[in-house]
Amino acid sequence: MITEATKARFAREVAKYPQGQQRSAVMACLSIVQQEQGWISQESEAEIAAYLDMPEIAVHEVTTFYNMYNQHPVGKFKVAVCTNLPCLLRNGYEALRHLEEKLGIKVGETTADGMFTLQQCECLGSCADAPVMLVNDRNMCSFMDDQKLDALVDGLRAAEGQA
Ligand code: FES
Repeated sequence: MITEATKARFAREVAKYPQGQQRSAVMACLSIVQQEQGWISQESEAEIAAYLDMPEIAVHEVTTFYNMYNQHPVGKFKVAVCTNLPCLLRNGYEALRHLEEKLGIKVGETTADGMFTLQQCECLGSCADAPVMLVNDRNMCSFMDDQKLDALVDGLRAAEGQA
């Protein structure tokens, strides 16, 4: 349910575009909802569509195109491992399998304690640093061999007092 306070935030984004071009704010509105709710439900997509006067399917197309929008609730740390060709050639799949084993989950799943969600993603634009992964859509991690993967997961757990 999108609140009036959230709609006020939408309005500030819409105001950045010429009149009649409110749909240009769709990505900003999706980001606001994700920031507030942690993910974007179909209900939220419908409410954004209504607010921006655009078809629901057009909002859904944006949500599903970008990996950064969560279509389901995710853990505190969303870990996305790139497996496009350059990363694949430098052990991207091995990194993914190593994380599956260490976290005890499969790609697309979240650990029972709600700490980690593991995802597979497309090229992150940092192929020279392969294999690459992104944590919470912001923190790029390069040259992720088993040792670095273990250190990252252990470090995040320790930071949360779960070591
Ligand atoms: Fe992985 Fe480009 S292929 S960052």
